[in-house]
Amino acid sequence: MDAENPEARAQYAQLPDIVCYSDTSSWNIPWKLNLTPWNKWAYNPTLREAIEDSVIEYPKGRDKRALVPGCGEGHDVIYIASTLGIPTTGLDLSPTAVERASSLLETTPEVPKDLINLKVEDFFSLKPEGEADKYDLIQDYTLFISIHPSQRLEWGRQMAALTKQGGYLITVVFPIDPKTDTGPPWYVRPNHYDEPLAGCFRKVVDKAPMKLPPGWPEGRQHLLVWQRL
Ligand SMILES: C[S@@+](CC[C@H](N)C(=O)[O-])C[C@H]1O[C@@H](n2cnc3c(N)ncnc32)[C@H](O)[C@@H]1O
Repeated sequence: MDAENPEARAQYAQLPDIVCYSDTSSWNIPWKLNLTPWNKWAYNPTLREAIEDSVIEYPKGRDKRALVPGCGEGHDVIYIASTLGIPTTGLDLSPTAVERASSLLETTPEVPKDLINLKVEDFFSLKPEGEADKYDLIQDYTLFISIHPSQRLEWGRQMAALTKQGGYLITVVFPIDPKTDTGPPWYVRPNHYDEPLAGCFRKVVDKAPMKLPPGWPEGRQHLLVWQRL
């Protein structure tokens, strides 16, 4: 959906009444009601810009691992697995979102299905048991603004715990809108990622992306890529 159109705006305005950060099961409600204004019905072109228009050598191949927490319908999961040939896990709190991601996977041709693992799980419950259990690449598109701001430091600790040394974290910052005290989506600016990731990651990309979902205005997204120290 065009992020600027009145229908999308109206849907965003309803989310804080439907999703409550203290009740993680409430994330299933917008998916059941089809109240998902963030949905692009395709992978995010900014993710493509991060991976394909870059000098960074992203991990490739079957011996690496990628994670997309808060994957929703799974478009970005499919894009990462297909482009990098890397086993990719998509997880989401919402069973309905994961069901839709599974259907999308089944019906999308020429996708390396054996590389993709989709599951209903809370990002914060993941506990890597050793380096092999960590990820070479993680992508966060709007998980950060879906959790309550008081959880952002914990988000950063979890990203650090889950990323292999030298691995990458791609954060697509969205929506960059005027300040509100309600959410989701919770108020965000690119510098809000600095403190949670400080000391464990270095920022290697910081740019206004050129590639945006169709119809989306410039200035509402920002691309940050981080490397685990
Ligand atoms: C704004 S939506 C974005 C979904 C997806 N990234 C996309 O592009 O369509 C945020 C998603 O994060 C999920 N989510 C929120 N908190 C989560 C958590 N702690 N663990 C896993 N998923 C979570 C929600 O269920 C929701 O599907």
